[in-house]
Amino acid sequence: MAAVNGAVENGQPDRKVPLPRPLRSLEVKYTKIFINNEWHESTSGKKFPTYNPSTLEKICDIEEGDKPDVDNAVEAAKAAFQRGSPWRQMDALSRGRLLHKLADLLERDRVILATLETMDTGKPFLQAYFIDLEGCIKTLRYYAGWADKIQGRTIPVDENFVCFTRHEPMGVCGAITPWNFPLLMLVWKMAPALCCGNTLVIKPAEQTPLTSLYIGSLIKEVGFPPGVVNIVPGYGPTAGAAISTHHSIDKIAFTGSTKVGKLIKEAASKSNLKRVTLELGGKNPCIVCADADLDLAVECAHQGVFFNQGQCCTAASRVFVEEQIYPEFVKRSVEFAKKRLVGDPFDARTEQGPQIDQNQFDKILELIESGKKEGAKLECGGLAIEDRGLFIKPTVFSEVTDNMRIAKEEIFGPVQPIMKFKSIEEVIKRANSTEYGLTAAVFTKNLDRALTLASALQSGTVWINCYNALYAQAPFGGFKMSGNGRELGEYALAEYTEVKTVTIKLSQKSS
Ligand code: NAI
Ligand code: MG
Repeated sequence: MAAVNGAVENGQPDRKVPLPRPLRSLEVKYTKIFINNEWHESTSGKKFPTYNPSTLEKICDIEEGDKPDVDNAVEAAKAAFQRGSPWRQMDALSRGRLLHKLADLLERDRVILATLETMDTGKPFLQAYFIDLEGCIKTLRYYAGWADKIQGRTIPVDENFVCFTRHEPMGVCGAITPWNFPLLMLVWKMAPALCCGNTLVIKPAEQTPLTSLYIGSLIKEVGFPPGVVNIVPGYGPTAGAAISTHHSIDKIAFTGSTKVGKLIKEAASKSNLKRVTLELGGKNPCIVCADADLDLAVECAHQGVFFNQGQCCTAASRVFVEEQIYPEFVKRSVEFAKKRLVGDPFDARTEQGPQIDQNQFDKILELIESGKKEGAKLECGGLAIEDRGLFIKPTVFSEVTDNMRIAKEEIFGPVQPIMKFKSIEEVIKRANSTEYGLTAAVFTKNLDRALTLASALQSGTVWINCYNALYAQAPFGGFKMSGNGRELGEYALAEYTEVKTVTIKLSQKSS
């Protein structure tokens, strides 16, 4: 299968290469707050636990950052950004070299990082290794290449003036990341921020701090000047809110729930009007036309919704199938779901691990119950796996209608709702009748239909005859309430730079 963002299309690693093996007994080395390239205990003396969701065992305690720790991190990041600092004096090409070196260390420690990610999130190790880590490495290398190419323009005005722009770093950037792709979402923010010359204060999700803290050790090893990258683990309403309300943070990048996205924007507007980019939820339509390659469509829709335990903002969680092929599509989708191997994420055969925590597990089961009650037809799954903690059976619902909660709300779990449609105009209207607009997918062999849908669907990404095809060089982000701004690609550079216009009046006037 074709590599996508270095990963693999449809969530499946390339089985031709020898498979990497996880480290079965890995000691967690980095559990403290990372400021100025040093490890610190929390000011409050508090710690919080992080768990392995597949065994429900505590992995270790982590220093719990709060406002005073965020303040210290921001002071360090501000000092590192000062005029004359080693970071500001560094030439842009050398900044790129540091990002390349960081990518080299991620390649060196790829098995350690994938093992830590699997311990902390429960995602299958091979997916962490082939998808998350590959995406991180490619994103770092992509932005390493940009560091010395961030150029302003010369603007023609009249002959008595010279006018040009500078694309300058913004200053201290905050990054608040989620638990579904902890390291990848961090790198999506860190790589463009650093390539543009900013400094950073990062708060990883409380469920999954381990890989972000490990990155702290690599930042130091690479030789980034102290204070350029600071990492404060902790909870959202405390450490997270301290970042979003901070007067000395100039920009904030967030991936997570729409609810918290709104809080962050509100906090930004009530503090210093810091710039905000948000990557929020999705209720993404996946439209399968009657003329589609059915094998491809069934497999992509399956991987599209079940990948990462269904915990993806891009999840194909509204599958619209044209009526002529509806029964066959449902039948084949159920066969796929029943075959999906759920179990120990360290086992190379496992396709689906546990959900991240009890809250998410309960939310998903509650939505499954609502589907049953509201009259959707449960084709398979629909339950937790008994005696196995946070594991949920791959679930398929047919006969789903647009008014049901499973067709409207983000489920963020292994649940595939399949709907029926009759005409293209109808499906466009239904696909767009949501407050979200992150991704959409279309399966058809008809070019005209494909391009009509690509133009009519209100979403930041449209995939035609593929799913989750993400590239470091292609922008990603949402329309409507799926977010503001774009990550990845050249477009993300604008999110991490200020444009300054310099206008010079010449003394020799033309007569
Ligand atoms: P969340 O939005 O609470 O968590 C994401 C990050 O925001 C974490 O680092 C958290 O500590 C931080 N945070 C929480 N409250 C904050 C606050 N007041 N100020 C600043 N930062 C804060 O998401 P949660 O509760 O873990 O999941 C809820 C739902 O959100 C999921 O069921 C899913 O629907 C959606 N979600 C979407 C993600 C995406 O990729 N777009 C990722 C994670 C969750
Ligand atoms: Mg954990």
